[in-house]
Amino acid sequence: MLLLLSAAGDDSGLTDELLRHGLNAQSAAPGLLALEPPDATPLPALALARQALPGAQAISAPSINAWARLLLDSVISRLPDEQPWQLQIAAHYGVQKEQRMGARAWHSVTRHGDDARFQGASAPSASGPDADAGAHRCDLIRNALLELLKDKRRRLLKQLRSEPEPFTPADSLVQLLLTSPDQGWLSIAPAPEPHALRRLLVPFPKGEIPVASDKAAPSRAFAKLVEAELRFGRRIAPGETCVDLGASPGGWTYVARQRGARVLAVDRSPLRDDLMADPGVTFVRGDAFSYEPAQPVDWLVCDVIAAPERSVELVLRWARQRWARNLVVTIKLRGGDHAKLDRLKQELPPFMDEWFLTHLCANKHEACVFGSVRSSAP
Ligand SMILES: C[S@@+](CC[C@H](N)C(=O)[O-])C[C@H]1O[C@@H](n2cnc3c(N)ncnc32)[C@H](O)[C@@H]1O
Repeated sequence: MLLLLSAAGDDSGLTDELLRHGLNAQSAAPGLLALEPPDATPLPALALARQALPGAQAISAPSINAWARLLLDSVISRLPDEQPWQLQIAAHYGVQKEQRMGARAWHSVTRHGDDARFQGASAPSASGPDADAGAHRCDLIRNALLELLKDKRRRLLKQLRSEPEPFTPADSLVQLLLTSPDQGWLSIAPAPEPHALRRLLVPFPKGEIPVASDKAAPSRAFAKLVEAELRFGRRIAPGETCVDLGASPGGWTYVARQRGARVLAVDRSPLRDDLMADPGVTFVRGDAFSYEPAQPVDWLVCDVIAAPERSVELVLRWARQRWARNLVVTIKLRGGDHAKLDRLKQELPPFMDEWFLTHLCANKHEACVFGSVRSSAP
């Protein structure tokens, strides 16, 4: 059984998206869909799925210690002692308040090396005033499990990653999703499944990445690019070149400059004064849709407000022409527009080495497509 958590909170959008791919899902809880995945064909990109729980089984336990013992037995029986694994325990009941990642945290994401790509981003299950109703129980279960592992399986405990990390083919993932204090779903995905499913699976509980906040950024939109990088598992790097379409007031340009990239920013309106004066930023006043780069760049980032058809066409054009090695583009949607993403799903894959399509936590009324463009013609 494959469980999918809906990015929209309710079932209907994701149910429709699955139906358009010929997949029939049942509701397992509000915002949680269950389906039997097709055997041979890989799962499609699902813009409205936030997290997948492969091989999920319904389980119940009456107490914290019973949950921990049940987890211990399952983990021991399914995971090898010598390989890295990640553990996500989250509650799917009660009220979830918005999580934010502070400026210091996200700047630390920008400065660490490749092996620390997710450092600084705290998981939503962290305790504190914003924690959801079941988060405390999840913390207790996790701590009880760690105690048992310390006693009985130190080698396995050593392999447990302490921070969310991009999945490598060696990583396994254990997810416990509580639907009430004593009931839930357990998913154990031995390596290399989490890496193979990474389009639908991120190393954050419930697929929720805390929204970055930074008062120095020109707009809150900067958080979308930070989150897209985290989901992609790849960041804009120092010395890279970047075209930012629909750049004003400059949140995405600001992120790219924080990373040490040079930016060519296109908009009809200027960016914030400090970015306009920045020698690492070239501003072009003009139309995002007719702009063509003089030479290929490392990144296309684009956050233009436009009809979804136009943004889809822009993505396909840049990928076909191989004008950028990587791209991050938001596609603004209203209710009922999701079918307009189907063209992207059909026509984009031949041009991409790897690509993702999702609703970001930083903005729920648009989809975001990102990935790396194939370097040679399909
Ligand atoms: C959501 S804002 C971008 C926010 C920006 N990413 C940030 O982080 O600050 C959308 C921008 O797209 C620009 N825009 C809309 N249509 C455009 C077009 N055809 N050509 C250039 N810019 C356009 C608007 O002027 C606006 O500044």
